[in-house]
Amino acid sequence: MKIIRDIDQMQELSRKLRCEHRRIGFVPTMGYFHDGHLSLMKIAREKADVVVVSIFVNPLQFGPREDIDRYPRDLEGDIHNAELSGVDIIFYPTEEEMYPEHYSTFVEVKELDRFLCGASRPGHFKGVVTVCSKLFNIVRPHFAVFGQKDAQQAFIMKRLVKDLNFGIEIIIAPIVREADGLAMSSRNAYLNAEQRAQAVCLFKSLRLAEELILVKKVKDPQEVISSMRNLINQIAPQGKIDYISIVDTKMLKPVDKMVDKLSGELLIALAVWIGKARLIDNVIVKV
Ligand code: PAJ
Repeated sequence: MKIIRDIDQMQELSRKLRCEHRRIGFVPTMGYFHDGHLSLMKIAREKADVVVVSIFVNPLQFGPREDIDRYPRDLEGDIHNAELSGVDIIFYPTEEEMYPEHYSTFVEVKELDRFLCGASRPGHFKGVVTVCSKLFNIVRPHFAVFGQKDAQQAFIMKRLVKDLNFGIEIIIAPIVREADGLAMSSRNAYLNAEQRAQAVCLFKSLRLAEELILVKKVKDPQEVISSMRNLINQIAPQGKIDYISIVDTKMLKPVDKMVDKLSGELLIALAVWIGKARLIDNVIVKV
């Protein structure tokens, strides 16, 4: 496995690989790998000749009061796990390499960032979209794998590559969960034992929502949201709900009825603060 820190070197290698007609699969990450990340690498491994994984904790996507300084890092562990997952190249640039002095170009996907995490983290998706645009131009992959865990990010990536004609296929991988249902996340490392037990409230509230919509045929999104809210408050009394939303899967806009004429599916997504960790989770229901 090669570790590349230099943009020119990465671009030159991709150019060579493309000349040799080798299919490049790409998994962008911020490191501190767990089984969710590794599942994306596995998917890439199955479909690509060469698997590239980037590790870059992107300052552009963190707000001024967010957790960039204490974002967990473990390069050695990541290298070991990537190697075991059959990764060929780790691209691990410095901040200076990615955003040198006088850096001034940003990419934005409008509309899709209005609700959900986009509403509570202003500028976050602009940072994600900008760094992924740069990474796509550096790695020049044939396809890139993203996780459904970050549902809004996944939708935005599909829109980005389509709108800007990147010519990259975006593959969305299912959410990998702990045994009790908690979605794996690097930020789960912030939880103490009590908070860890309470963190299952996100998954449980999504299960409840599915049951209310699919079995009990509840038609009012607000009724579902308030039942989810109650359950979360019961399981995690100290938790703080950032948002719970039920949106369509085309424009990610909140729906006022439990139908979606466009796609026949709805996205239920939420973010909850448990201690110092802002946790997110989601499910897509076919209605
Ligand atoms: P990061 O949080 O490191 O996540 C990297 C990828 O792993 C994302 O596509 C994310 O959706 C996926 N992922 C995380 N937890 C998962 C889980 N439990 N199951 C399945 N997939 C999971 O997302 C980012 O980094 C950044 O925003 C990035 C795209 C790298 C841009 O900086």
